[in-house]
Amino acid sequence: MKLNLMIFTLFGISVLTLVSIYSCTNSSTASEQIFTETSPGVFEFKNQNYSKGIGPVKEIKLDPVDAVLAEKGKGIFETKCVACHKFDMKLIGPPLKGITSRRTPEWTMNMMLNPVEMTQTDTIAKSVFEVLKVQMVTQDLNQEDVRSVFEYLRQMDGVK
Ligand code: HEC
Repeated sequence: MKLNLMIFTLFGISVLTLVSIYSCTNSSTASEQIFTETSPGVFEFKNQNYSKGIGPVKEIKLDPVDAVLAEKGKGIFETKCVACHKFDMKLIGPPLKGITSRRTPEWTMNMMLNPVEMTQTDTIAKSVFEVLKVQMVTQDLNQEDVRSVFEYLRQMDGVK
């Protein structure tokens, strides 16, 4: 009788262990992996320049970098973005170096204008949010402002 009880208990414990191992491994594979952290704060991103994201920006045509526009964007970036973003390393948000080649212009501008809806419904933004666990804030910016910040980001990426 005693032996039966022991076998029963051991069986119960192993079932519970298996169930918890399964649920852990399962939850960590829930979303697509967008970047890997090669050393602390330094990310290597996958290119995902297929989505235009969600927001008012539908179609952007790019010309060579407009230095005057980029200068305006730099001013906005330095007042509204530097608290959370650097170019080469993670701060609160992801590093922005290379953003103009790994995402579409429309996606990047929609992210600046509409960050909350983007992290809730856009697949790419959602999976970045799942890792960083901080919500980018919506700022008082219009499409023209955001276009100038985008021009600054292009300039920083060495686009001519
Ligand atoms: C309060 C901190 C904060 C501020 C201020 C902020 N961001 Fe962000 N940003 C984030 C976080 C965090 C993410 C990642 C998505 C998320 O978790 O919301 C992000 C994501 C982004 C992305 C997408 C990057 C990627 O690789 O997916 C871009 C582009 C971006 N921000 C640009 C800007 C610009 C431009 C400004 C200024 C107008 C700005 N952000 C202001 C925190 C911030």
